[in-house]
This record gives sequence, C-alpha cells and structure tokens, in this order.
Amino acid sequence: MPERLDSAVEPRLDLDPFSDEFLSEPYPYHERIREAGPVVWLERYELWATARFEQVHATLRDWETFCSSAGVGLSDFRKEAPWRPPSIILEADPPEHTRARAVLTRVLSVRAIEVLRETFQQEAERLVGALVAGDQGAKHGVRFDAIESLAQAFPLKVFADAVGLPADGRENLLAYGNMVFNALGPRNRLFDDAMAQAEPVREWIAHHCSREILSETGLGAQIYQAADDGELTQDEAALLVRSLLSAGLDTTVIALGNAIYCFATHPEQWQRLREDPGLARSAFDEGLRLESPAQTFFRTTTRRVNLAGADLPAHAKILLFLGAANRDPRRWEDPEKFDIERKVAGHVGLGSGIHACVGQSLARLEAECLLGALARHVAAIELDGEPVRRLHNTLRGFDVLPVALTPA
Ligand code: HEM
Repeated sequence: MPERLDSAVEPRLDLDPFSDEFLSEPYPYHERIREAGPVVWLERYELWATARFEQVHATLRDWETFCSSAGVGLSDFRKEAPWRPPSIILEADPPEHTRARAVLTRVLSVRAIEVLRETFQQEAERLVGALVAGDQGAKHGVRFDAIESLAQAFPLKVFADAVGLPADGRENLLAYGNMVFNALGPRNRLFDDAMAQAEPVREWIAHHCSREILSETGLGAQIYQAADDGELTQDEAALLVRSLLSAGLDTTVIALGNAIYCFATHPEQWQRLREDPGLARSAFDEGLRLESPAQTFFRTTTRRVNLAGADLPAHAKILLFLGAANRDPRRWEDPEKFDIERKVAGHVGLGSGIHACVGQSLARLEAECLLGALARHVAAIELDGEPVRRLHNTLRGFDVLPVALTPA
C-alpha cells in the first residue's frame, strides 16, 4: 500500500475509468479529469491519475521515479503475484530492461525492418486488390467488416510471418493480446471474459515461443541468435519472443481499424491521402493520436515525489491517460480534429522515454503498406452500418467496422 491514503488529497474524483460507460465514450471523462487538475486522486481505486500531456509525458520519461517493474497495470507486483511471469522488457527497469531492450531495438530497428517492406507491400496489394475485386471476404460486392478483412487479416499474415510463426492457430495471438492488455486493468468482467479461455491460449503461446517452432530466419530466430551470442539466456530469449507475441498484434490490429474508421468518417482526409499516398505514415500517427489504441498505462513511484503540486508517497500507483494526453488542448491545436497533415510527432500513443514502443517501426511499416495500397485502389470509403465498439481495460478500438468501398 502507499505510505498513506490521504483523505485530504485534492482534487479527487469518483470515476471508474474501467466501467462500460467510461470506456464506451471516454472523451468527456478525459476532459473532466484534465480540467480537474494536473494530477487527480481517483477514489474508487485509491490511486493518482493524470490526463494532461505535460504530466503524462514527464512521468513516462522519468523511469527512476516512476518505475515499470511493479507492473504497468493496476496490480502492484510487489503486493500481488502477477498472472504470468513478468515481461523482461515492458515490466522491467534498468539495468535489466537495458539489456533486453538492446536486443529488440536492434532486431526491430528501422534498418532491420526495411527488408520486410517488399513482402508487406505485395501482401497489402494482394489483400486490398482481392477485396476491391469483391472476390475474397466480401460477401456483397465491396462491403465488408474492415476489422476482420483488413485490420486483422493483414497483420495476422505479415506480422506473424515476420516473427516466423507457422500458419496454423494464429488466432491465438488475438486472444492472447486481449488477455495481456485487459489484465492491466482491474479484475472486472472484461478481465474475466478475456481470461475465460486462458489455459489453451497460454499453452499455444508458450509452445510458439520455442526455438524449434519458429522459422530459421524470422524475428524470433534473431532473438535466439542474441542468446547464442551471449546477450541473453535461452529462457530470456523465449520471454522476449513472448513480448513480440503479446504486444505486436492486437495493438496493430486496433490501430489499423481506428485509422480506417477515421478515414471513413473524414472523407476529405481520405481524398488528401489519395492525392498524396506519401502521407500514409503521418496519417497513421495522427490516428494513433486521435484514437489512441493504448489508452492507459500505469507506473509506480519509487520514492516520495511532488508531481505538479501533488504529493505522491513511495510505492504509489499512478494511472497515465495516454489517450487523453493526446487530446490535451494545452498541447494540441484543435485536438479533436483528424488532420493527416498535422505536425503529430511527439504524441504519446506509442509511449515515450526508455519504454517507448520498440516495435513502432514495424507497426508503421504495416500501416504505410496497407493504407498506401488502399489509397491506390479505393476512391471512397464509408461506414456501412453501426460499428461495434470493443470494450477493453486498456485498448480502444472496434470489434466490427462495417465499411463500403468504392473502387478507384
Ligand atoms: C500501433 C501499434 C502499437 C501500439 C499503439 C503500441 C503501443 C505501445 C506503447 C504505448 C508502449 C509503451 C508502454 C509503456 O510505456 O509502459 C509500447 C511498448 C512496447 N511495444 Fe508497442 N505498440 C504497438 C505495436 C507494437 C509492435 C508491432 C510490437 C512488436 C513488434 C510492439 C512491442 C512493444 C514492446 C516489446 C514494448 C515494451 C518496450 C519497453 O518496455 O521498452 N509494439 N507499445
């Protein structure tokens, strides 16, 4: 427990950021939290929270005061046993973090990932071409669920191939991502639902982190090569492969779905992308800012600290609203506008500081190839029915996104 739970902590709010109501439409709540103060006390969970860009950003960057090794969810690993062995990168601090991070930084560097571009482009062309022709996944001409047929189909093929996974059973990656990120929240209904089929999924994941299962040339094999070179133990290599399988798929699926939603609801921005497909990368980042897939992460204080006037004791959890920081009017002009030409660098949709997403080049390459292929083949994209929101303790996206495409 924190050193004290001060009943005098102000401002205090009685909100549940993991309730269906909050998760369905978080933005008015974000505004309330941001405007209540730079740091607020959330009574229900007895923890601090910040929704302003300045404090979210500063907290992410100060790993010495705000650590990750006590877990980056609500649960404090020093008080409760984690549901799985902790990640050696996401849930670690230097110096352990530095060693694991060095390996993934190299394996997932812009240069290393660039070799995948041609394959990703070909697959994007094939997938989009087939959808637009209406001969695959599209039951009624070019009307289909953009989550299943695009946002999931593309990474399930290219990401899983890049890691070196066999073709069978890849849907386990979606189920596992759902477990990992829901487990960062409280033990609520969303957590229970995500964990309902936990055992077979965990077994599949554990089996597919092993060297014998992975192809000899993929990203997974490169991590094992680092173990052969003495940078990691074999067990650590398996845990780092698990990090790719945990963090690499569901996040990207949701991000691609959100980007497609943004374009379907902003036709003028779609036309801008069509005029200049070179904007695909910044358009993806603007989607990450406006509809941040990773809405929240937590940190734990290592010492007593004053954060923007709030006096936090040691060992206290603080909830960081990344999605709210990305819409903070103190940082962004017209924050609620989707503008693919915005100077979007510096958003915290991929985190910031030493834990900033190590897979971001890969995610951006996937997005660039998929959005680029869509921009070439699709004249217009519209919603074709009510999207179904996915309620989730960490991620914000859709379960179903019905769209209608007009071929170019
Ligand atoms: C658009 C898709 C993605 C989003 C929105 C996303 C978001 C994030 C965020 C916000 C963090 C920081 C967590 C923190 O500060 O505690 C993070 C870290 C991480 N991400 Fe991603 N991510 C995405 C794609 C990927 C991919 C494709 C991979 C793997 C190839 C990946 C692997 C990781 C790993 C291993 C970490 C931990 C890094 C560390 O702790 O040093 N992510 N991601």
